[in-house]
Amino acid sequence: MKRVVVLGATGSIGSSTLDVLGRNTEHYEVLALAANRSDHGLLEPCRRFRPRHVVLRDPAAADRLGRALREEGFHDIEVHAGEAAMAEIAAHPDADQVVAGIVGAAGLEPTLAAVRSGKTVLLANKECLVTAGALFMDEARRAGAHLIPVDSEHNAIFQVFPGEAGRPGVTGIQLTASGGPFRTRPLETLATVTPAEAVAHPNWDMGRKISVDSATMMNKALEVIEAHWLFDIPPGRIGVVIHPESIVHSMVEYADGSVLAQMGNPDMRTPIAAALAHPGRIPSGVAPLDLAAVATLHFEAPDYARFPALRQAYRALEEGGTAPAILNAANEVAVDAFLEGGLDFPGITRVIAGTLDRAAPGPADSLDTVRVADAEARRLAAEVLAEEGR
Ligand SMILES: NC(=O)c1ccc[n+]([C@@H]2O[C@H](COP(=O)([O-])OP(=O)(O)OC[C@H]3O[C@@H](n4cnc5c(N)ncnc54)[C@H](OP(=O)(O)O)[C@@H]3O)[C@@H](O)[C@H]2O)c1
Repeated sequence: MKRVVVLGATGSIGSSTLDVLGRNTEHYEVLALAANRSDHGLLEPCRRFRPRHVVLRDPAAADRLGRALREEGFHDIEVHAGEAAMAEIAAHPDADQVVAGIVGAAGLEPTLAAVRSGKTVLLANKECLVTAGALFMDEARRAGAHLIPVDSEHNAIFQVFPGEAGRPGVTGIQLTASGGPFRTRPLETLATVTPAEAVAHPNWDMGRKISVDSATMMNKALEVIEAHWLFDIPPGRIGVVIHPESIVHSMVEYADGSVLAQMGNPDMRTPIAAALAHPGRIPSGVAPLDLAAVATLHFEAPDYARFPALRQAYRALEEGGTAPAILNAANEVAVDAFLEGGLDFPGITRVIAGTLDRAAPGPADSLDTVRVADAEARRLAAEVLAEEGR
């Protein structure tokens, strides 16, 4: 029986994780669930999984959840509030696996707490590696934490990589990208894209922020950075190929010309189940892949003019230090503004470019430097955003 902590339990990754856990209750026990402020969203999973602990970052939401649970007679579920409690639960001595499913840079501290306590961390929160990749990987090595990627592309690569030692013969990796909902939309109409259109991904059902990131291809940009740190591969050997069907989830290239790919229907429950059970396999609820029904798979090179975010990622990786944290923070500010109706769709990459131009990246030698760079980038992005509005 493995005891699992799910951070971001009310989100898209969290719900898919709970769905998989619910199909495999003979092997997994939910030790704790954590979210930001969705007390309502945690109630049903509490009824179903009876975790020992729940954590909400927002104290008022935690109060509400505590009252609701007591009214229903769940006196044995302990309710905690705040960021410190989130980090404590991520490092709980009884936890075997921690699912890092919080969205954005807010996921860094609790995920790092799990890493520092040497847990097996199922990493969905790519922002950890984007903002603090070197520090994060150092901490994982020092603490002996086991990182298993959940992001479908990285999980695919993880599945087809040769063992962990040395990776003989690997010459590069190819991340596949669907191209999102605007791959073929006339460029001149992108300014009229609405938030509802941007979050309607053609293949994947995901949270709002990552869906917008997929539409701008910032998601792939962040994934290039994530892959660099996770697999210790130089940026020049990480390619991106557009694959609109999202059946091939990514590929590893070998010196002899072999290319190993992992395939499956586009449903996050597959990589989540693969990560939970690694190195074993458990049912995920995902329908088997019917290649005859899919019939045709397409691949094409990315259009960098349409998707400037990709170049921004390679630029940030080249600059190194805090540059990727700056890129990520600027993106979070711009995506929020777009979702709230305060910025047009092409404005997202303009705000990021403006922030990268103004910011002065330095070495990312401590978590504090990363926090400061993140805060400064948010301030600069707000400045660029305000100028956009004029
Ligand atoms: N969705 C996917 O298919 C997918 C695929 C690959 C990778 N990922 C990555 O997985 C992560 C989660 O994505 P998602 O799509 O599942 O996001 P989502 O649906 O928006 O869910 C986000 C989760 O994070 C929680 N949260 C937000 N801010 C928080 C904070 N400050 N402290 C604690 N919890 C907080 C939310 O709680 P509330 O509900 O209370 O706000 C919610 O449970 C992202 O890093 C994303 O890039 C997602």
